[in-house]
Amino acid sequence: MNKTLIAYTSKGGATKEAAQIISGILKTKYELDVDVFDLRKDKKKLSNLAQYNSVVVGSGVRSGKVYNEALDFLKQDFGDKKVAFFVCSGDAGDPTKYEEAHTKYVTDVLANYAGLKTVATEAFGGRQKMLGRTVFNNFNPDKISKWAETLGTVLTE
Ligand SMILES: Cc1cc2nc3c(=O)[nH]c(=O)nc-3n(C[C@H](O)[C@H](O)[C@H](O)COP(=O)(O)O)c2cc1C
Repeated sequence: MNKTLIAYTSKGGATKEAAQIISGILKTKYELDVDVFDLRKDKKKLSNLAQYNSVVVGSGVRSGKVYNEALDFLKQDFGDKKVAFFVCSGDAGDPTKYEEAHTKYVTDVLANYAGLKTVATEAFGGRQKMLGRTVFNNFNPDKISKWAETLGTVLTE
């Protein structure tokens, strides 16, 4: 059985929603067995990764930083599992800032993990609400779905 874990951390909900979109595609189009767990709330369930062939790690970004739960989770040895990484960042959803955001929140972050090789990475947009009002919203479900389809191909190879 090809089992995939999507481990995410989200403060505003965008990364959680992205994790759900990715999970939906991996399940329906690629018939993968997928668990989606919250790095903060589901710690116990995340203690044994032996059953998974692949791990997708997702995180939001605030104040110039990928969330700590994701940074900590990436420290472990994933052995020969296929690992993918994505972030949801307001800047990544802005075409004029995408390249810079991708470098800062994906490329530079992953460079800190010497033994970690990823099979797929991406930076998506996000959203922010304050006092019930949307401050900005560049969350792009279509981009996430397309990435999930590429990912599904890689995870089933
Ligand atoms: C307090 C705060 C700080 C933020 N700082 C950044 C930032 O430094 N860079 C960025 O690209 N986006 C920033 N954002 C936008 C977030 O990346 C966006 O809200 C995203 O949806 C966060 O993921 P989450 O909803 O899963 O928590 C910030 C949002 C908030 C509320």
